[in-house]
Amino acid sequence: MNQPVMEGVSLNVPAYVRHPRLVAWVAEMAALTGAAAVSWCDGSQDEYDRLCAELVVGGTFKKLNPELRPNSFLACSDPSDVARVEDRTFICCEQKDDAGPTNNWMAPAEMRALLQTGQADGTPALFAGCMKGRTMYVVPFSMGPLGSHISHIGIELSDSPYVAVNMRIMTRMGRAVFDVLGTDGAFVPCMHTVGAPLQPGEKSAAWPCNKTKYIVHYPETREIWSYGSGYGGNALLGKKCFALRIASNMGRAQGWLAEHMLILGVTNPAGKKYHVAAAFPSACGKTNFAMLVPPTSFEGWKVTTIGDDIAWIKPNADGKLHAINPESGYFGVAPGTNTKTNPNCMDSLKSDVIFTNVALTDDGDVWWEGIDGETPAHLIDWQGKDWTPQIARETGAKAAHPNSRFTVAATNNPALDVDWDNAEGVPIDAFMFGGRRSTTVPLVTEARDWAEGVYMAATMGSETTAAAAGAVGQVRRDPFAMLPFMGYHMGDHFAHWLALGAKLAQGGAALPKVYCVNWFRKGADGKFVWPGYGDNMRVLKWMIERVEGSGGGEESVFGVSPRYDDLNWAGLDFSRAQYQSVISIDRAAWLTELGLHGELFAQLAGRLPAQLLATKARIEQQLEAA
Ligand code: GTP
Ligand code: SPV
Ligand code: MN
Repeated sequence: MNQPVMEGVSLNVPAYVRHPRLVAWVAEMAALTGAAAVSWCDGSQDEYDRLCAELVVGGTFKKLNPELRPNSFLACSDPSDVARVEDRTFICCEQKDDAGPTNNWMAPAEMRALLQTGQADGTPALFAGCMKGRTMYVVPFSMGPLGSHISHIGIELSDSPYVAVNMRIMTRMGRAVFDVLGTDGAFVPCMHTVGAPLQPGEKSAAWPCNKTKYIVHYPETREIWSYGSGYGGNALLGKKCFALRIASNMGRAQGWLAEHMLILGVTNPAGKKYHVAAAFPSACGKTNFAMLVPPTSFEGWKVTTIGDDIAWIKPNADGKLHAINPESGYFGVAPGTNTKTNPNCMDSLKSDVIFTNVALTDDGDVWWEGIDGETPAHLIDWQGKDWTPQIARETGAKAAHPNSRFTVAATNNPALDVDWDNAEGVPIDAFMFGGRRSTTVPLVTEARDWAEGVYMAATMGSETTAAAAGAVGQVRRDPFAMLPFMGYHMGDHFAHWLALGAKLAQGGAALPKVYCVNWFRKGADGKFVWPGYGDNMRVLKWMIERVEGSGGGEESVFGVSPRYDDLNWAGLDFSRAQYQSVISIDRAAWLTELGLHGELFAQLAGRLPAQLLATKARIEQQLEAA
């Protein structure tokens, strides 16, 4: 292909790239950002190894001890760049009301002036010259299996080699994407910069970033522009920005769903397999549940992982909802992970891992709060400081950041489902919605119908976690676990779910059952009452029995919950009294809770489906009568 004539940087377009519109865009972005070089990623192992070696030289990566953690690296971020920045995340559709009250909004023209074109008063655009002295990587990726009819392609332009290597693990990244694109295929342009241009001769910081941050989505033109952060969901644009915020817009237009959900397969002792998709907010247990190892007493039960964070769900020709995992790796929470809570995860992390913001041991391995074994006498913490148990006791310093993470290929997971890469996806038998609630919400409740399930999802509350910058532990409404990831008006999302259910029901399909769960109720001692992790199998088994029509239960104002004797307690010492404390419904707490549902509904008023108001009224009546 002809190399466009450009001032400055050579574009180095590989011969296999035959897409003029794409090349023109890369040229335009190279000119805008003033990148010193353009490098097209081919996704090969050689390239990955080379970039990792460069990251080691540049100080971003430490190579871990190859005898303990082969082919693995530790990156420690700037202390100001450790999580998603929700208050800097924008949905820039033409009409403010289309973004809804749960999103930050700015008019596209105004945002484009700020980022791209420069402002009327002469203030230059943030992206102008933002990559000076840096290489711009062209990262081609497919969300979903390459070439599948359900997959979508993105091209991320980033000045962060850390992003490039993470994208190779998290997505199907590389040269084959250009074959799929051909000469005119559709792609989502994903612009990313750490916002730290270099003066001639200036050495880059180990973790370049900018105090100013913008995570911007244009849903109508399906574009992403991310400025100032190198971290996770802010920078790996295939993940939350594309696969949730942009894809939710695609899904609404085209009749499918993009959700913050894990997908798992569960096989019972009779060999029958079911599939469950579960939405829990950030750092509320998706990775752990997707990799669940049943207690030894659950002989013959097996759980396999299709995805741990994102599901694209579409009605299939068989009349059922089918789900795919658009990702190919896990960007998971490290703290709390150990061989007891998540043995499959620990096995996945044996080699070929990028760790971010965990601690470094003296023998060159990684450590985090909650990992197995004795606490080491000395560590280098995630900020590069000496750490000892005594320092921790005195100052409260964590060795690993609470939102420290690992990036690892799905294929490292010993529990990977045979269908994880199946372009047709897997048929969904049940949906789960679960927040982190130390009070009020029972262990598990089954919705009596689709509308009640949508109500449960819509009104879900959860305590905030370290996955986003800001306060931790505050209850907020997190509808569908999508509050930070919804690409349009939340009320429209509720309507979309209701409409999809109605359409499937009309076609004669049995809709998936819907469950509301909470693993996180605490006792008077402040500790979790429910053992969680592998023991969540007890709840999963009950749900599958309900799907099969055999599981028992008791109706409450919110739906159907298992009685003590409806669950299998083999191998666990959990008394009736303890069970009461995780399953009970406190009337006063629920009156307050319904008030909070009401506040959300009032906020969404203009676009709130009437069916949800009716569901709320029915629950309130029953609660009054109870
Ligand atoms: P994101 O990647 O942020 O979307 O999070 P996630 O939903 O995948 O959360 P993850 O499974 O990584 O869990 C986050 C934290 O919750 C970890 O520290 C886990 O150890 C803890 N956790 C997960 N499952 C359970 C559980 O069943 N009970 C308790 N008490 N903690 C859990
Ligand atoms: C989340 O916060 O829900 C994550 C991590 O899965 S991040 O990719 O940083 O968004
Ligand atoms: Mn997530």
